[in-house]
Amino acid sequence: VPRKTVSHFVTRHTLLTEVTNQLLDCQSSRTVVLLGMGGSGKTQLALEFCRRAEKSLAFMAVVWIDASSPSSVEQSFKVIAKQISKDRHEESNIESTVSFVQDILSAWNQRWLAVFDNYDNPRAFQSRGILSYLPTSDCGSILLTSRHADSARLGHLIEVSGMNESESLNLLLQRV
Ligand SMILES: Nc1ncnc2c1ncn2[C@@H]1O[C@H](COP(=O)(O)OP(=O)(O)OP(=O)(O)O)[C@@H](O)[C@H]1O
Ligand SMILES: [Mg+2]
Repeated sequence: VPRKTVSHFVTRHTLLTEVTNQLLDCQSSRTVVLLGMGGSGKTQLALEFCRRAEKSLAFMAVVWIDASSPSSVEQSFKVIAKQISKDRHEESNIESTVSFVQDILSAWNQRWLAVFDNYDNPRAFQSRGILSYLPTSDCGSILLTSRHADSARLGHLIEVSGMNESESLNLLLQRV
């Protein structure tokens, strides 16, 4: 998970509670889609959810994937393959690297979370759809962030709009 904390972070309680309800307080695995305009705070919200989950040991593993394009997804899978195999994974071709990561996550009987950030451009995935990259298992949860309305069909939709009044005030007060 990237360390990209902003200096004046404001907790967005309502949204965090909704993500938590969907991904943690529910027994079955599922996909949650954070949908909102650029700059609305989707990535920060996902990062905060990961930080909290890390603290509470809610997941045994959290992986972060840049879903801007198939090549950024594949690059992220390469990094994850290295990490989970402690450098023992031989990189032969990208197909085997993607299946390697998917198979490990799918076979795990511990809870894990995969964040697919920046799925803003579904058209970039015409040759290979995003669904083919999502690992599946009863123990896994997926959190996807997107600016594109079409992503709503991928899972439970949570719309991220601008901050509400008290959140904006908090942000202002923290910066003063
Ligand atoms: N909870 C927050 N507290 C403080 N600042 C925030 C918060 N959320 C967002 N911001 C500010 O807004 C900026 C944009 O947020 P973020 O990167 O999460 O947006 P985004 O929705 O992921 O945008 P994009 O679609 O471009 O990826 C952050 O860099 C930060 O400056
Ligand atoms: Mg973002």
